Amino acid sequence: MKAVVFHAIGDIRIDDVPEPVIEQPKDAIVRLTASAICGTDLHFVRGTFSGMKKGQILGHEGVGVVEAVGSEVRDIKVGQRVIIPSTIGCGECQFCKKGFFAQCDVANPLGKRAGTAFYGGPEGGGGYKGLQAEKARCAWADVNLVPILDVISDDQAILMSDILPTAWFGADLAEIEDGDHVLVFGCGPVGLLTIASAKLMGGRVIAVDRLSDRLAKARALGAETINFDEVDVPDAVLKLTNADGARRVIDAVGVDAQHAHAGPSEPGLLGKAKELVEQYAIEPAARKFASVFQAGDNPSQVLDWAVECVAKAGTIAIIGVYPPTDRVFPIGMAMNKNVTLRMGNANHRRYYDVLLDHVASGRLDPVAILSQTEPMTGAIDAYKAFDERQPGWLKVELEPTS
Ligand SMILES: NC(=O)c1ccc[n+]([C@@H]2O[C@H](COP(=O)([O-])OP(=O)(O)OC[C@H]3O[C@@H](n4cnc5c(N)ncnc54)[C@H](O)[C@@H]3O)[C@@H](O)[C@H]2O)c1
Ligand SMILES: [Zn+2]
Ligand SMILES: [Zn+2]
Repeated sequence: MKAVVFHAIGDIRIDDVPEPVIEQPKDAIVRLTASAICGTDLHFVRGTFSGMKKGQILGHEGVGVVEAVGSEVRDIKVGQRVIIPSTIGCGECQFCKKGFFAQCDVANPLGKRAGTAFYGGPEGGGGYKGLQAEKARCAWADVNLVPILDVISDDQAILMSDILPTAWFGADLAEIEDGDHVLVFGCGPVGLLTIASAKLMGGRVIAVDRLSDRLAKARALGAETINFDEVDVPDAVLKLTNADGARRVIDAVGVDAQHAHAGPSEPGLLGKAKELVEQYAIEPAARKFASVFQAGDNPSQVLDWAVECVAKAGTIAIIGVYPPTDRVFPIGMAMNKNVTLRMGNANHRRYYDVLLDHVASGRLDPVAILSQTEPMTGAIDAYKAFDERQPGWLKVELEPTS
């Protein structure tokens, strides 16, 4: 079958790979009808999150039809349409039972102290093969596959495999109360759905990015916007919040954050040198001067702004991904403001009941951010367009079998 395969940092290809087979009695094999490219995939290809093995299939977002089930699968049936949530849990350990599926004790074959198990990631994530492929093996199928009815389209479902549950998780972590100012960093797919989630929870949203097409989408979703290439971000936030700062802040950017490239926040030479040192300490192999798949230039930019912009005794939720090697956080200012910090990989499985209801009823419309649907054979060009943030390239769905 065809799949998007990682060869090296900056080098991904469409390859022919063996089809997956049932390995454990609780496995299922799913024939994918939709997959998608995510900002998380970019961290791996840019090298800002290391540990990817040559030959790993990329992708952790998928929707499909169950083709085969193992002997101990009870609820999931062959022929069912399913969403494949990105993170994998066993459903039975102490963490899964409390809803912390992303911290499952069992799903990561590297052991209970290893990281979140998910598809298409580095070896540290358990080595599960990715979903940018024609078929996938899904472990603990009864826990990790979410059956869907025909009222949910593939376009809606693919956005519920990762980014809508992640966005909802971010808004949930931020402890939003009615009327709170919610400052969202990043207007990529995750940031935009975070805005939509925060609005539904009663927040007054302010969104930050530098890309005009993405900022326009944020305004269409009801946010006020700040372009960090034009104004000083903390100043602008104070002006919009009666000098209090934002009570809730959400980082939907992660390690590939950028500094301003124009305007009052653009760093000088010394600032840029400090950023290079930070980048090097986090991941020496990340691509720093390439034309495509280049790392962001200031990994701590959003964390710095988040702590500066948060109101006293406010909450910061971090859903942007940082690799375990990243140790840069302005702890002193955060501590002295009595800030609450919450963060992590989304516990996708926990949110499907509420999200399927919101999507089916139209209260949340994730498809509003879907910008392209491409055949999987065109995935490499689509990756590059998304990586370069070409105007209009916001969220790319891939059709694995076309
Ligand atoms: N926690 C989880 O479970 C989880 C799940 C999915 C995705 N993610 C992460 O969410 C993040 C966003 O994903 P995406 O698909 O939207 O990615 P994306 O790369 O499309 O979006 C990132 C956006 O941030 C903007 N940006 C860069 N620097 C900024 C800054 N200093 N301030 C404000 N905005 C800035 C970029 O212009 C871009 O629009 C990634 O880090 C991804 O890995 C986390
Ligand atoms: Zn994703
Ligand atoms: Zn578990």
